[in-house]
Amino acid sequence: MADVKEEANAGNGSIYMFAGKGGVGKTTCAATTALHHASQGEKTLAISTDATPSLAHIFEVTDKKKPAKIQELLYINEIGLDEVEQMWDKKFGREVYEVFSSFVSIDYDSFVEFMASMLPGLSDEFMVDYICEMKRSGRYQTIIWDTAPLGQTLALLHTPAMLVEHLRMAPRIYSRLKFGRNSRDSILDILKRWQKLSADSIDFLRDEVRFNIVTIAEALAFEQLEDIFRELDDHGFVVKQLVVNNVIKENDSEFLVMKASQQKKYLDMIYERYSHLKIIELPMCPYEIKGIARLKRIESSLFQ
Ligand SMILES: Nc1ncnc2c1ncn2[C@@H]1O[C@H](COP(=O)(O)OP(=O)(O)OP(=O)(O)O)[C@@H](O)[C@H]1O
Ligand SMILES: [Mg+2]
Repeated sequence: MADVKEEANAGNGSIYMFAGKGGVGKTTCAATTALHHASQGEKTLAISTDATPSLAHIFEVTDKKKPAKIQELLYINEIGLDEVEQMWDKKFGREVYEVFSSFVSIDYDSFVEFMASMLPGLSDEFMVDYICEMKRSGRYQTIIWDTAPLGQTLALLHTPAMLVEHLRMAPRIYSRLKFGRNSRDSILDILKRWQKLSADSIDFLRDEVRFNIVTIAEALAFEQLEDIFRELDDHGFVVKQLVVNNVIKENDSEFLVMKASQQKKYLDMIYERYSHLKIIELPMCPYEIKGIARLKRIESSLFQ
């Protein structure tokens, strides 16, 4: 009975994505949010698509198991190229290879390399799909998605649309090549499924992922917010929440007073420009945020 209930809840689960410029506190916010949801009794997975992930570091785990258990109901998984390649293997790799290798003599590894160069962003596409599958599996009620710094994340979000574009041309190109009829049909069939995967990824990002942007009260970070909102908007992705991290809350020295007044200028600009969003300020702490006890301390600021 408990299982049935858990599965049912999992179906309605949420995915919270944290994105933003490098070093602004995405992983800190993602880890705190994951801890928060797990402590509410939700089975939670924090997942990272950053090539140099830091979730394990922040939670202070050395367990290399994937996913690694942090505490009751809380798991983390840092997805690297290995997982993505396995995913590709499972979904398309062997099948596409079989078609190709029927007329080109090529070993599997070179083939995978070749495909990756043909379709840049293929691995990103599979990362989105990986998270989508995690959600569909119903194993977790809440998924927290910690991403790589801005540029890479935006590229990742564009991938599904880019692949759809590429694949629209593909049938024409492939149908001109002199394949045997069976190979040609198989390729077109695979391409159709690929196109569906891309379309599903866009829908998934748009309908099921809650975008949270993390920033700091500084000039460059403020400027870059414009870009990220524009790009997300172009794809119909809606941002739910903006976190302004590292806000100086105690100004009991000349240094801090100056720093706080600098931040105030950008905080005012943020509140004016993004008044339609839920904005949360996270105080700058005098220590790095690492380990459950410290994450717990900022939880109350993130979830007022
Ligand atoms: N509010 C805060 N007060 C003090 N230190 C903080 C705060 N938020 C984050 N930090 C520290 O700043 C550093 C960067 O934070 P974090 O790793 O969360 O950023 P990130 O955006 O994920 O970085 P990257 O772009 O490299 O993935 C960490 O050492 C973290 O402990
Ligand atoms: Mg990070």
